[in-house]
Amino acid sequence: MGTDKEAKPSTYMKSDIGPDFLIRRCTLEDLEGVIEVNERELPEDYPFFFYKSILDNFPESFIVACKKDNPKKIIGYIMWRIEKVPSLNNLKLINKAHLVSIAVSEDNRRKGVSTALLNESMPAVLKEDISEYVLEVRVSNYPAINLYKKFNYKVHSIKKKYYRDGENAYFMIKKVKNI
Ligand code: ACO
Ligand code: ZN
Repeated sequence: MGTDKEAKPSTYMKSDIGPDFLIRRCTLEDLEGVIEVNERELPEDYPFFFYKSILDNFPESFIVACKKDNPKKIIGYIMWRIEKVPSLNNLKLINKAHLVSIAVSEDNRRKGVSTALLNESMPAVLKEDISEYVLEVRVSNYPAINLYKKFNYKVHSIKKKYYRDGENAYFMIKKVKNI
């Protein structure tokens, strides 16, 4: 109770997802735990430097979840990147927030952890003056599609054979402003 050894003054902490969990910004030391969750829960794996570059470039929206009684063990994460793309209306570059990956370890699911990860990270990417949030999700991934729909993401199109095993992806968008 209250002996939070990980609490460093520089690391912001949140504890608004019930009594069991906390969420905070990812640090370099957390990446190993993030990769562990990713490799267990998702078929899409990335090399270490990929995570590191997301952390270096977009640290404010790289959020991890852990249990309060074991704050070193990562049980969930979310990471975003900001992409500059040409607007269709004029030649100006606009920012899109791309949800690169989110996952929660199986035994901690359905407890609001992803909801908290999205609630925390979406305002952080909003600071980058984005026009929309975008993501791809397997067409068979009912839990994740449901989660995104709950946050008002809409299916925009289907990306055929998006995944290495040939599965299609839904390309989902949540608009922030009209451009
Ligand atoms: N069945 C149906 N709906 C679900 C399910 C499920 N098994 N799980 C979550 N949802 C939906 C529900 O609407 C739920 O709200 P409710 O509990 O009030 O009904 C809502 O999502 C929020 O649930 P959370 O508890 O916040 O979600 P959780 O922490 O369990 O995480 C996640 C959801 C990330 C999809 C989890 O199941 C997971 O890690 N899956 C494996 C990894 C994965 O598929 N990640 C997404 C890949 S796509 C991408 O990363 C861009
Ligand atoms: Zn993507």
